[in-house]
Amino acid sequence: MDSILVVCYSHTGTTRRLAQLLCSHHGWPLGEVLDERPRAGAGGTWRCFLDSMLRRHPEVRYQGPDPEDFHTVVLMSPIWVYRLAGPMRSFIASRRNALRRVAVISTMGSAGASNALAEIAQVLGRAPILADAFTTREIADGSGTARLIAFGDRLLPGSAQQQPELRAAVAM
Ligand SMILES: Cc1cc2nc3c(=O)[nH]c(=O)nc-3n(C[C@H](O)[C@H](O)[C@H](O)COP(=O)(O)O)c2cc1C
Repeated sequence: MDSILVVCYSHTGTTRRLAQLLCSHHGWPLGEVLDERPRAGAGGTWRCFLDSMLRRHPEVRYQGPDPEDFHTVVLMSPIWVYRLAGPMRSFIASRRNALRRVAVISTMGSAGASNALAEIAQVLGRAPILADAFTTREIADGSGTARLIAFGDRLLPGSAQQQPELRAAVAM
């Protein structure tokens, strides 16, 4: 079983666009974590901050193929207040047993991916096999696209697992 599923959470659309690009290039299915309570307006943004600062698990629903059916799941999420975005925290906690082998992509303005990666490793009880982060500028101007595609290539069967890259990602 070499199948790969991408699961993203996106508040303002950036991570979703990156996830769609990865999926369309590799022909992989995409699932999405959705907020049960919409985050529109200033109140919604404020809740993003609080969810992160208090490490809360906001209510979410998942729309997409069952992660249990896939060998590898690529988790894609924005960084909020130097941490994993709350809705992805909720998803990982609720599906922990189904996420046997994960890779992680963070999107961010500039910093915080290493904290998200450490939190995911702690919740899952094992390190992701591969991790990387993309800034909103790299996503908007396309300068991160080649690195994104290369990330996907490294998950393909026969490709060696990338511990050196993971160590680099942890240092971000
Ligand atoms: C509440 C909030 C907090 C954020 N905190 C950070 C941060 O600590 N570090 C950072 O680099 N970017 C931060 N950002 C920027 C987002 O991580 C970035 O814009 C991301 O690509 C948004 O993804 P999305 O459009 O898929 O929601 C924050 C954005 C929001 C809304």
